[in-house]
Amino acid sequence: MCGIVGYVGHRPALDVVVEALRRMEYRGYDSAGVAVLDGRGGLAVERKAGRLANLEAELDDAGRDHFAGSTGIGHTRWATHGRPTDRNAHPHRDATGKIAVVHNGIIENFAPLRHELEAEHVDLRSDTDSEVAVHLVARAYADGPTAGDFVGSALAVLRRLEGAFTLVFTHADHPGTIVAARRSTPLVVGVGEGEMFVGSDVAAFIEHTREAVELGQDQVVVITADGYTVTNFDGNDDVPTRPFTIDWDLEAAEKGGHDYFMLKEIEEQPQAVADTLLGHFANGRIVLDEQRLSDQELRDVDKVFVVACGTAYHSGLVAKYAIEHWTRLPVEVELASEFRYRDPVLDRSTLVVAISQSGETADTLEAVRHAKDQKARVLAVCNTNGAQIPREADAVLYTRAGPEIGVASTKCFLAQVTANYLVGLALAQARGTKYPDEVAREYLELEAMPQLVARVLETVEPVRALARELAASPAVLFLGRHVGYPVALEGALKLKELAYMHAEGFAAGELKHGPIALIEDGLPVIVVMPSPKGRAVLHSKMLSNIREIQARGARTVVIAEEGDEAVRPFANHLIEIPASPTLLQPLLATVPLQVFAAEVAQTRGYDVDKPRNLAKSVTVE
Ligand code: M6R
Repeated sequence: MCGIVGYVGHRPALDVVVEALRRMEYRGYDSAGVAVLDGRGGLAVERKAGRLANLEAELDDAGRDHFAGSTGIGHTRWATHGRPTDRNAHPHRDATGKIAVVHNGIIENFAPLRHELEAEHVDLRSDTDSEVAVHLVARAYADGPTAGDFVGSALAVLRRLEGAFTLVFTHADHPGTIVAARRSTPLVVGVGEGEMFVGSDVAAFIEHTREAVELGQDQVVVITADGYTVTNFDGNDDVPTRPFTIDWDLEAAEKGGHDYFMLKEIEEQPQAVADTLLGHFANGRIVLDEQRLSDQELRDVDKVFVVACGTAYHSGLVAKYAIEHWTRLPVEVELASEFRYRDPVLDRSTLVVAISQSGETADTLEAVRHAKDQKARVLAVCNTNGAQIPREADAVLYTRAGPEIGVASTKCFLAQVTANYLVGLALAQARGTKYPDEVAREYLELEAMPQLVARVLETVEPVRALARELAASPAVLFLGRHVGYPVALEGALKLKELAYMHAEGFAAGELKHGPIALIEDGLPVIVVMPSPKGRAVLHSKMLSNIREIQARGARTVVIAEEGDEAVRPFANHLIEIPASPTLLQPLLATVPLQVFAAEVAQTRGYDVDKPRNLAKSVTVE
């Protein structure tokens, strides 16, 4: 995915655009670029491969005086078509140099469009799919029914494009006007006083205005300093839009005194869990955010699929234990990228729960579309208001974790686990597998969790010290049972993506079937202990597993409930967490693992907010 911004107003556009790119750099950091009207009838463009800092250095060298205008667009790229080079960096210009475009997404029919342009001897100067858009607009503007009409030319081209795209165009002959469009990728309008913004998300303009407008599918917005108009690709303005007020403040999008966003986001977890619960239990009932499914439809559900990727998938694995236990419905958890390709058995009695922080992940979105094609009902758990996945779902529960800027998901995992519990309880309530007072009791237990998460955070300093001690290890293994198993997988994923360390999570009972061969002298093994009271049988089996690996030389790091004396003799390092209901333990046990991974990564000298090769949302399959 990429971050894109457009600005029209009274300030120097370059400053506004560069600041917006800084806030959206988490969306991609393969290259960055700006195009700003120069105030003398031309367009000044600068673009550079690599991080925004490279572009800023280039702007300093070139002299910022060229970028005097108050209309501009910008882009921060995560490469899909074409390598991350200067020449592939956005904005792209037409041959006259007067029109520029930035693009997020994929223009699927770019190849025939490119051939068409090449046949007319248009000089394409990049390997991207994006560049065709600007040349097509230039051609429509130069000649034919839309000649001289900037907006009309853009509309004519948009109607020809296939795929998923957000496009923002600026034209030197139309200062003070920006045309932007979206299909299946995000675009939000920021409404200021005497200034207007468009951005991939509200981070692009949050410091200037809190008033925003969410655009729908296949909509075009034309902004000027004085306002905006929204139409469909045919230019018809009878289309629905959703104005909203942003309740994230500027500070929520900044680092809050930490070196990295991710560290701030780990600290925000008690709030994320509490906010996610907020307002979802009213008049003795669990309520979702957007409910386009009747209770009867929920009663008719006879099986549940959970589809998600990465960390969201791990939250789904936790959900399986809770939903099956509370509803007695069979639950299958699927990697979204595998789901539709194996022809799953779906019908109108199937509920597909799609979990996604961004709501844009292509694998998950396509799984949702496949499920809908097969008539299944879709319930989205999402952190991004108005993103594509919740838009296409039949019901939505938003995690209210706020913006998550660190590429590695932390607070959104806890928020997802929390939201998934609410989904389980909503199903149990609708189906009558739990009495209302039981649902209320479970909810009260959930409500107590933010305080317990805060207690874990107060006691993680020894985890940091241990992480520094183990930072040079070649590998770390993670073991868990029951809901501790997905926690082990999540701990391993965090260590892989942040510290680039070989890390694997295993179901502890599976160890003897192969992975135990990996154990050698001094190998750190992190074990998530089940509660000795809540899961006594599993607890004693886990003690045996720890004994087995200790006997083979493993260095055991054990996460266990306070008061779990039986485990002490087997723990080379003990990390205690408060006691909690068994199903809710992942909300506590995951936190030390996040802290551990972040500290190992920092000790190894890595940028924990921007791990190599990764992007925050993955909008290609
Ligand atoms: O936005 P989504 O929740 O759909 O993203 C899913 C995964 O790409 C994401 O969780 C990824 O695994 C994170 N880097 C994990 O930290």
